[in-house]
Amino acid sequence: MYQPQEIAVYIHWPFCKSKCPYCDFYKELARNTDQNTLIDEYINALQRYRQILPDRVVKSVFFGGGTPSLIKPENVAKIIDKIAQFWPIKANAEISLEANPNTHFQTIFTDLKNAGINRLSLGVQALNEADLRFLGRTHTLKTARHCLAEIAQVFDNHSADLIYARPQQKFADWEKELTEICSYGLKHLSLYQLTIEKNTVFAQKGVQPLNEDDAATMYDLTRDFLAARNYALYEVSNFAQAGFESVHNLTYWQGGDYIGVGKSAHGRFVLNGTHYAAEYPFTHIPLTPQERAEELVFMGLRLTSGIDKAEFQKICGFDLSEVINTEKSKNLQNAGFLAETPTHFFATRSGLLLLNQIIEQLLI
Ligand SMILES: C[S@@+](CC[C@H](N)C(=O)[O-])C[C@H]1O[C@@H](n2cnc3c(N)ncnc32)[C@H](O)[C@@H]1O
Ligand code: SF4
Repeated sequence: MYQPQEIAVYIHWPFCKSKCPYCDFYKELARNTDQNTLIDEYINALQRYRQILPDRVVKSVFFGGGTPSLIKPENVAKIIDKIAQFWPIKANAEISLEANPNTHFQTIFTDLKNAGINRLSLGVQALNEADLRFLGRTHTLKTARHCLAEIAQVFDNHSADLIYARPQQKFADWEKELTEICSYGLKHLSLYQLTIEKNTVFAQKGVQPLNEDDAATMYDLTRDFLAARNYALYEVSNFAQAGFESVHNLTYWQGGDYIGVGKSAHGRFVLNGTHYAAEYPFTHIPLTPQERAEELVFMGLRLTSGIDKAEFQKICGFDLSEVINTEKSKNLQNAGFLAETPTHFFATRSGLLLLNQIIEQLLI
């Protein structure tokens, strides 16, 4: 029976200093957060996971948000230490934290490194003052630049998030930001096309993103621009220097086991041959192999390498051809949107631009 040994651990910190007008992630304003009580709740939840999944090895820990750089470094250390008490942590485990420049203080990055963080991901979003203001960011360009320089110095593994396809954005302007972000020598970049999500301030204000054609062109040009600078696209929105793809996020896309604690954290794991979907604080609902197989298709096709057919079969017990509509798949391959080798099934460059429509057709 398939029983993965490794597990990824997600720590969700849903608090932010202010709410960005484009953001649809679950978050609360960090006003009266009783941090110590919450950390104890997280540790209790991790302990319960330890009881049901005792024989695992931790390959990654990811502090995501919200704004986990609001967690006091001593509390970050406390959580990492507890995880290490509950399970062995692999020697080269990736321990990441997402930081917002608006939480910067002089020793924050060295404090986080001393707490056990070995990969820092910075939410920069834009590298010009006007767009930072448009995006409702509460840090200055100067602070963002200062943080970028600092994380490049303090950590060996780092990433930054930027949002592009902003209203009326021109590639020439975006290219300047790309040139600058490359100059810091970060190992990884997450570049997201601005989406206007329902119930956000941007949606209420009727903000219109760049039109689809221009956004697709910008995506293509970005991919080439970064490839020429040794950042390869490996997932729809993620670029990395070779060997620096995010171990933690690959777990989601490749169907590995993970647990999560924190308000909107969730998990997926296999226990005694059954797949479970977990919701925080502590419910886990069995998934049928078919349900898990469909998740593996839509997650796996986000990767440029696509779905590893042998791994797919190992995880859910199905041959890929039993889960996808093979006739539609052939048509999509003939149209140049999908391709396969004996070992992998993947979206082509043009297919990645239409991934949602492609997956809709495949999974019926
Ligand atoms: C949960 S946030 C974590 C970073 C941190 N909270 C910060 O903002 O600095 C993850 C990333 O999602 C991206 N994001 C959030 N809403 C988005 C939207 N509507 N369109 C495109 N990207 C978005 C941003 O790049 C953000 O950094
Ligand atoms: S983008 Fe980051 S800082 Fe802004 S509201 Fe969303 S989670 Fe919070």
